[in-house]
Amino acid sequence: MAIAVYPGSFDPVTNGHLDVVERAAELFEKVVVAVAVNPSKAALFTSEERVHMLREACAHLGNVHVESFTGLLVEFAARQGASVMVKGLRAVSDFEYELQQALMNRRLGQGVETIFFMTSPENLFLSSSMVKEIARLGGDVSQFVPPQVRALLAQKSA
Ligand code: PNS
Repeated sequence: MAIAVYPGSFDPVTNGHLDVVERAAELFEKVVVAVAVNPSKAALFTSEERVHMLREACAHLGNVHVESFTGLLVEFAARQGASVMVKGLRAVSDFEYELQQALMNRRLGQGVETIFFMTSPENLFLSSSMVKEIARLGGDVSQFVPPQVRALLAQKSA
C-alpha cells in the first residue's frame, strides 16, 4: 500500500475532485491532497481558503490529508514519502497536458508514477473554472460542489 499525492489548484474543490479523492483513498494507504501555491496563477480563493475547503470536504476520510505546497511537486511528494501521483482524467482534451506532466514528473522524480482515475460520467464536463463562472453569473452550483464551497462561492460572487 503506497502513499499517493493528489495535486491540483482546487480553486475551488468540486465534486469531481472529491470523487477522485474518495476512490484514491480506497486504494492507497494514505492520500495527501496537495494544493499548489502558484503566485503567477491568479486564483479566486487563497491557498488557505482552498486548504480549508478541502479539509472540510475530506473530513470523513481518515487516511486523507490536505497540505499546500510551493515549488516542484516531485520534491513535495518525496518529503511526503509518496511514490505515486494521482490525477483525474476527464476528456481527451486533458490527455496531452497530463501526459506531458506525468512524463516530466517521472523523469524529475526518479520513477514516481502517475496513476489516472477516469472521471465518473456525471463529472465529465465539470471544472473549477466553469463552476466559478456559473457562480459569478448567479447560477446554482449546488450539484457541482460541496455545500460549504457553495456558500463561500456565493460570498465571493456577491
Ligand atoms: O489543477 P491544476 O491547475 O491542473 O494543477 C496543476 C499542478 C498543480 C498539478 C501543476 O501545475 C504542478 O504540478 N505544479 C507544481 C510545479 C511543478 O512541479 N511543475 C512541474 C510539473 S511537470
